[in-house]
Amino acid sequence: MASGLFVRIANEAISARGSFSVALAGGSTPRHLYSLLSSTDYNSKVEWSRVEFFFGDERHVPPDSDQSNYRMAKETLLDPLNISSNQIHRWQSERANAADAADDYETGLKAWFDRSGRPIDLVLLGLGDDAHTASLFPQTPGLLEIERLAVANWVEKLNSFRLTLTFSAINGATNVMFVVAGNEKAEAVRKVLEGEFRPDDFPAQFVNPESGNLFWMLDRAAASLLRNE
Ligand code: 6PG
Repeated sequence: MASGLFVRIANEAISARGSFSVALAGGSTPRHLYSLLSSTDYNSKVEWSRVEFFFGDERHVPPDSDQSNYRMAKETLLDPLNISSNQIHRWQSERANAADAADDYETGLKAWFDRSGRPIDLVLLGLGDDAHTASLFPQTPGLLEIERLAVANWVEKLNSFRLTLTFSAINGATNVMFVVAGNEKAEAVRKVLEGEFRPDDFPAQFVNPESGNLFWMLDRAAASLLRNE
């Protein structure tokens, strides 16, 4: 269960280093995980006051937009857990210039690395049916960014900028956890895990933590096309 693994990683970080930093995933799949973590079954399993919340990516929309990953997390996790605003590091996605928002986020991320003396403890990721992850979509400039930790990535098929951590930031994390569910993701899961190595077309294949742990939390439907389940 993704919730159990989340709690284990959080408590390991808190007991070892006094805090836990997590970059939340967006989209719809994590809603269930976040609602579970903030439910009475789980909300007392982690000392939430010691958790720093980042976001793996964000749409270039205001934070109160129904498209906002921040808004989704706020409604399902952050507000129900009464997380204080100084523990929440959201993208300034309301800024007209997406690149400025990315620069701002990168500055904040680096400040956390300096303060905590370590990379993010856990990056949560979803998977699109086109095998994108975070907002690193196939054949987009952000895939090739190796210097920056956070970028504004132009996504032609969405005709919009997306704000996203880069694979450098993701692969520098101590733990990376994909949470993927549903039949509609089965082919993307198969391509990423068992298909030809073509990361420009299947960007999630670029996720390969330098020294961290990689977890794939799949429901039976999303794993249904894998040869080696
Ligand atoms: C986003 C996410 C994105 C998401 C996948 C899967 O901003 O949408 O970061 O990478 O995880 O698109 O989305 P679903 O969970 O909605 O299928």
